[in-house]
Amino acid sequence: MNIERVITDIIEKNPHIAAIIVDRDGIIRFINDTYLKALQLPIDEVIGQDIRKITPYSRTMKAIETGRPHLAYNWSIHGRQGVACSVPLFENDEIIGAFAYSIFLDIWDQKLRNQVLNGIISNKEPYQEGFKTRYSFDSLIGKDPGFVNLKCVAQNIAYHDNVTVLITGESGTGKELFAQAIHEGSNRRAFPFVRVNCASIPHNLMESELFGYEEGAYTGARRGGKAGKLELAHNGTVFLDEIGELPLSMQSKLLIFLQERELERLGSNRPIRVNVRIIAATNRNLEKMMHEDKFREDLYYRLNVIRIEVPPLRLRKGDIPLLVQHFMANINQKLCLSIEQISDQAMELLMQHSWPGNVRELENVIERGMILADLEDMSVLMPRHLSFSPVQDSPQWDEEAEDDSREIKDLKTLVSEFEKKVILQVLRDTKGDKIQAAKYLNINLSSLYRKTKKYNLDI
Ligand SMILES: Nc1ncnc2c1ncn2[C@@H]1O[C@H](COP(=O)(O)OP(=O)(O)O)[C@@H](O)[C@H]1O
Ligand SMILES: [Mg+2]
Repeated sequence: MNIERVITDIIEKNPHIAAIIVDRDGIIRFINDTYLKALQLPIDEVIGQDIRKITPYSRTMKAIETGRPHLAYNWSIHGRQGVACSVPLFENDEIIGAFAYSIFLDIWDQKLRNQVLNGIISNKEPYQEGFKTRYSFDSLIGKDPGFVNLKCVAQNIAYHDNVTVLITGESGTGKELFAQAIHEGSNRRAFPFVRVNCASIPHNLMESELFGYEEGAYTGARRGGKAGKLELAHNGTVFLDEIGELPLSMQSKLLIFLQERELERLGSNRPIRVNVRIIAATNRNLEKMMHEDKFREDLYYRLNVIRIEVPPLRLRKGDIPLLVQHFMANINQKLCLSIEQISDQAMELLMQHSWPGNVRELENVIERGMILADLEDMSVLMPRHLSFSPVQDSPQWDEEAEDDSREIKDLKTLVSEFEKKVILQVLRDTKGDKIQAAKYLNINLSSLYRKTKKYNLDI
């Protein structure tokens, strides 16, 4: 594959993306066909011109002035709505210009638009790369007494930097935040925090990932061998995420390491002493797995020295306003938005939701809502900006955890909740047109009015 050509094709000829490159003075050096078409200008009236003259509302000059990218901002040209990103370009630490690209949103197809927005949302930096943490105890937001108490327990454990910790709780409750905060609060903070996601490493690679290998251990093994994650974390913390997914064979090897605190790289018999604290996390019910012989009992007791059970968001709903405020401030900064408020009705909707995806879901709902509000040039988050993804959309949602801890509701409540969701969705799809919505739902108009009133759904 000719990578350079593919890249050129993507930038030069892609009919969906408008791309432009300017130098540090804002003079346009490159522009692709899509952008020219949108501008409705011939190329010789653009190249060599100042971008401020051609597109006065672009934030590209700001990216050059501040040296920071402006991501996913609302941008329109000749009535076409787009989402644009302006990224500064560096050479030897010096700004030499900027690259900007935008995707047009005259795709008012709900599904496509969501895909675009999701793409923007999931574009987060991978912080594990440098084995550093991003969070400390200050990042753990919550006033709920149980939650505050849990934070205190975790803070105390942090000081004892050899104690193994097991963190349990549903997906999205903040288990990883707790793990990072414990590392940050410990004397190990100057050393690596290494995360191992036991669910995402293929079984046949798991051993070399964790324990490393020696040169010549197998065909294709790297010259000089390679240290495993445990060795890399020496003096620091190893965070074994999704420990419930660790295959049984690896469970025994991990157990031996926890007992001996020594490991041998694959293909070597030279023991290496490694000093690490283990923090494991799972959204599975390990006790149940143990009784089903899917999790080793001896390993369970080794890990379960100190247990932190992070509560689901639906059991600390009082923290929702605080979390919303926190996320809005963060997201405004991250995406250069200025959505300052949330309407009472929107907050009401958030308080009513059951949050199967917990704090992670709340953060996503807010982020997505803020982008939509920004596209409408609003500075207040309204109910129509909030959409809750169906449960199966959350990839880490674990069915077993659901069985164990889901709030039990009576049939009537469940039916009403479902009815409300369906009506809301249809009203959104028909942009509030009740006649069309009633037809769609196959009910008569007066009963639709009654129901929208009952559920407070006036859009
Ligand atoms: N108490 C909290 N305060 C602030 N943010 C939180 C809190 N709990 C979770 N989050 C946010 O939710 C997201 C998911 O948290 P994470 O620790 O990855 O969950 P888990 O590991 O339990 O699935 C994180 O991106 C984090 O920003
Ligand atoms: Mg996690």
